[in-house]
Amino acid sequence: MIQKAISVWPNAHVPYSGFRVAAAVRATSGHIYTGVNVENAAYPEGICAEASAIAAMVTQGEKRLTDVVVVGDAPHAVTPCGGCRQKIREFGAPETLITMVNTDGDILMQRTLLELLPDSFGPDHLEKETQL
Ligand code: THU
Repeated sequence: MIQKAISVWPNAHVPYSGFRVAAAVRATSGHIYTGVNVENAAYPEGICAEASAIAAMVTQGEKRLTDVVVVGDAPHAVTPCGGCRQKIREFGAPETLITMVNTDGDILMQRTLLELLPDSFGPDHLEKETQL
């Protein structure tokens, strides 16, 4: 997973931040989907690497992921932003492992989704128990 994510990292479209990020997600089939951040001149329209990888997974009809890798070129771990934690929450589980690495593949941090997004809101909350 780490090598696959690193291999697409140069493809990030980052003319505004210059901050390349790549991600890989492993679906329950075992297939690994990759993505990069894709920025836009209309700044809020940019998408994160994790969102790109998740979109690639869902595009192929897969709805569950077990592991995530995030690659950044920084001395500190590039952790998923809040929005991406919620996107991982949609398709992952509390024990989903998120591994943050640098472009050499060194592991800088590993966290579960539960650690990154405790007390999260998810699909279950939309199931009404009683009919009003
Ligand atoms: N970014 C990601 O792609 N993933 C993260 O986990 C953190 C931030 C991107 C968004 C933007 O293109 C650039 O990094 C700088 O914020």
